Amino acid sequence: MSLNDRTAVHRPAQALNICLHVGQIPNRDSTLTHVDVKPLAGASGGEHLDSEDRAADSSGARVIGAEISGVDISSPLSEDIVTRLRQALLEHLVIFFRDQRLDPQQLLAFARQFGEPMAYPQLTGLPGYPLVTPVIKHEHETRNFGGVWHSDTAYLERPPMGSVLYALETPPTGGDTLFANQYLAYETLPADIRNKVDALVGINSSAKAEASRTREDRQRDAGDQLKVLVARHPVVRTHPETGRKSLYVNIGHTTHFEGWTESESADLLAMLFDHQIRPEFICRFHWQPGSLAFWDNRCTLHYPLNDYHGYRRVMLRWRATSRADAATLTLPNHRNGRAAGKALPCMMLAPVKKLRAV
Ligand code: SIN
Repeated sequence: MSLNDRTAVHRPAQALNICLHVGQIPNRDSTLTHVDVKPLAGASGGEHLDSEDRAADSSGARVIGAEISGVDISSPLSEDIVTRLRQALLEHLVIFFRDQRLDPQQLLAFARQFGEPMAYPQLTGLPGYPLVTPVIKHEHETRNFGGVWHSDTAYLERPPMGSVLYALETPPTGGDTLFANQYLAYETLPADIRNKVDALVGINSSAKAEASRTREDRQRDAGDQLKVLVARHPVVRTHPETGRKSLYVNIGHTTHFEGWTESESADLLAMLFDHQIRPEFICRFHWQPGSLAFWDNRCTLHYPLNDYHGYRRVMLRWRATSRADAATLTLPNHRNGRAAGKALPCMMLAPVKKLRAV
């Protein structure tokens, strides 16, 4: 296939008034299997952290993000490569690939090697691929999907362990995505705040996404009447694989702390929302057609920049769950005296009009 081919990778998707192309993506040598992991520029060393913060950065040298090269992810991967990619994900929190040619089937097959796929609540997947959700901003639109700092669907009882986003069409400039390290966010909190948040439970609601400037047509398929989903999660969660603690609130979903009113919660939440996106915790990824990001939703936030009005951006996304994750969202003991280790229920509240989820 030449560089200029405009091959539709999934014709039924045209029903959504989009056309998915792989033509801008360069060919690659599918025999390459040497996984090379390069931490993102500007995201290594930790020199920008002050000495107290550097001491708290138990990850050592890296802050967030690594680009992976030398592997073609369109074909099944060997166990060894899957293991190395998993390690890279745990170490760098988000890993990026370039120049990958994937149709929705191959995207699913890649992702399945890392976790069980889960549907995106309240969003419609591609025809024939309900677990693959298009994320599109058209030329005439001004809102982008998920345009607020967030961790995916924290309003679910079991949010996804990770998400994969694959770029098909990108604007000539702009449309980058930022990722923030939430281990560091937690570890660099002042000790008194850390002690306080350790004991708190956050209430996360899909209703808050209404204010988050997401795309209207994401919800068109789902209808006007959508349920508000609410889940209670510890404000500090422990990663089931690394054992590290990370901050688990986000401005897109967290409304208040359990046992506190919204106004009682407001100051502390505002402080946490500011702190968790400090520039020192962030990497920025510039997309090209064929780029793919795979992030760990348990210890990162992300934010898609909306700086490309007049141009189209077409992405496919997929989310994975993992059985181990439920354990990280249980609470040891907390103020309302729920049983230790009991999973927190997810509540369905009244329908609202025109909810937009992130
Ligand atoms: C999202 O999943 O929140 C969208 C990310 C992006 O479009 O870069």
